[in-house]
Amino acid sequence: MSKLITVFGATGNQGGSVIRTILNDAKLSKEFRVKAVTRDVNKPIALDLAGQGVEVVKGDMSSPEDMSTVISGSHTVFLVTNFWESQSAAPEIIQGKIVTDASEATNGRLVHITHFDGKAEVERYIKSSGLSATFVMLGIFTTQLFDLIRKQDDGTFVLATPTSTSAPAPFIDPRTDTGNFVRAAILNQPETGTRTIHASSQYYTFDEIALHFQSATGNSINVFSVPGELFKSFLIPSLSPEMAEEVYENLMLLEDPGYYAGADINPSLNLLSESPMGLQEFFRRNKDQW
Ligand SMILES: NC(=O)c1ccc[n+]([C@@H]2O[C@H](COP(=O)([O-])OP(=O)(O)OC[C@H]3O[C@@H](n4cnc5c(N)ncnc54)[C@H](OP(=O)(O)O)[C@@H]3O)[C@@H](O)[C@H]2O)c1
Repeated sequence: MSKLITVFGATGNQGGSVIRTILNDAKLSKEFRVKAVTRDVNKPIALDLAGQGVEVVKGDMSSPEDMSTVISGSHTVFLVTNFWESQSAAPEIIQGKIVTDASEATNGRLVHITHFDGKAEVERYIKSSGLSATFVMLGIFTTQLFDLIRKQDDGTFVLATPTSTSAPAPFIDPRTDTGNFVRAAILNQPETGTRTIHASSQYYTFDEIALHFQSATGNSINVFSVPGELFKSFLIPSLSPEMAEEVYENLMLLEDPGYYAGADINPSLNLLSESPMGLQEFFRRNKDQW
């Protein structure tokens, strides 16, 4: 009988990519049946998944009762916690712990997406539980570049950063490539202990981001390093001051200690069966967005 993979965030970027990859993978589609978790089984994306033969179940990560039922029988769990809905680490930590406890109770295995404080605490909690787990650490979403690269009144474009323009930033296209990295995680899941996968196509400096943008879209772009307060003032119209500070600090850590604390991405890339999409291709596919 096929093994059950339970996918959180199934209606979102990352979980959606994981499900598409499994359904389209000759080996994994035979080995696994997919259970998609959503709080609303009647939303269009959930109905679409059900139409593709995916078992779609209602479950809220904040509910231990829901999670013990949802995770029961799972061989593998893909967990992605959601920071942006609450814009606070506390609910993420609670949700991550609830899902870990439910998985432990069923002797499940975990594949977990993690970055930054709340996710780091969940990572420590999973490690202390003794479950075998792979932490798939997504880089910066390429889609962030829709906000970071801005059109000026004269038709040229600007990429401003509070870091130096040579700071290295790892990027991933979450809808295209989360599944690609999670497939590698499933195929290389440790029997015991944990593994970390750095899910990014490569590190790009801000100067390199601009070069790819220019050559793929034909648009002229200038890159600037700007003082922190000025950078945050660019964000305030669309973000609260607290979230502007969060985005600012996320960028500042690119220089020190580094997004993955400077870890080499190549061992993770070597696990993949297909190359992830780089920025040149991302800009080429999305040039109409700017
Ligand atoms: N932006 C970046 O550069 C970046 C980089 C790395 C990691 N991240 C992290 O990625 C995460 C977001 O992932 P994403 O973009 O894949 O998500 P997304 O597209 O925003 O979708 C969120 C998903 O989470 C589910 N969800 C939210 N709260 C839930 C709950 N209480 N119980 C069950 N399901 C719940 C939603 O399901 P329903 O609504 O259907 O219930 C939905 O499928 C954030 O934690 C963020 O910090 C972001």
